[in-house]
Amino acid sequence: MRHFDSQHTTHSMPSSAPSRDLPAAQRRHWQHTYAQYPEMYGQNPSAAAVHAMRRFRAVSARTVVELGAGHGRDTVYFARSGLQVLALDFSSTGLEQLRTAAARAGVGQAVTTVVHDVRDSLPVASGSADGVFAHMLLCMALSTNQIRGVVAEVARVLRPGGVFVYTVRHIGDPHYGAGVAHGDDIFEHGGFAVHFFSRDLVDELAAGWDGVEVHAFEEGELPRRLWRITQYHPSRLAAARNSPHKNPLASA
Ligand SMILES: C[S@@+](CC[C@H](N)C(=O)[O-])C[C@H]1O[C@@H](n2cnc3c(N)ncnc32)[C@H](O)[C@@H]1O
Repeated sequence: MRHFDSQHTTHSMPSSAPSRDLPAAQRRHWQHTYAQYPEMYGQNPSAAAVHAMRRFRAVSARTVVELGAGHGRDTVYFARSGLQVLALDFSSTGLEQLRTAAARAGVGQAVTTVVHDVRDSLPVASGSADGVFAHMLLCMALSTNQIRGVVAEVARVLRPGGVFVYTVRHIGDPHYGAGVAHGDDIFEHGGFAVHFFSRDLVDELAAGWDGVEVHAFEEGELPRRLWRITQYHPSRLAAARNSPHKNPLASA
């Protein structure tokens, strides 16, 4: 992929809640970036997607939701591997490139795209997905409370025994603390805002799930330092989702 991580400047800013317009600014930034650098992550699947595919096969998955699918390097791989994929992203430009790539690979019928901001409830029926995949989505410009809301939504849409594989940059990443501080461990560097995860946050998000695995890995030229988390939806969470559900995504 192209390398966007070359600058390393630090400005000290007061730590506070993420600014209200940060997600809107980030959406514009991603739209612009995909337009300027089509297929910026390349056409090969990520190592995280290859791992996820093994886990999806192990639970006989047929339907998978991908959050923050971008231009679809992993979506196309999942579809070529036989899955039906619902690809969500708030960048329509990324998703246009995704549809082109899927058609080129002959798997257009296996892919559905929806322009969607994950701060809103997922457009997916409860208990209907065999798997959810999110490579570097939860570590975008989302507050801790919004991240909790996304994971609650993943729990809602997964069927019992379904698997959630996600990756996040963490506080051991070279860019943690660099650039503009937006509070809540969110730092903006080179125009990209990232929420760097602590291990405590990973553990909190795994509470109540089964078979939790945390794997450290690196990606890209910086390299980015990430954790890949695999966790399984236990049937006891299915009971909880049948109770009246206050949408935790509504507030930051
Ligand atoms: C680091 S990129 C990863 C893209 C893709 N998963 C990959 O690895 O090729 C993060 C993606 O998340 C999307 N994104 C960021 N914030 C989002 C939000 N609040 N809702 C939906 N998509 C978002 C961006 O548009 C971008 O495509």
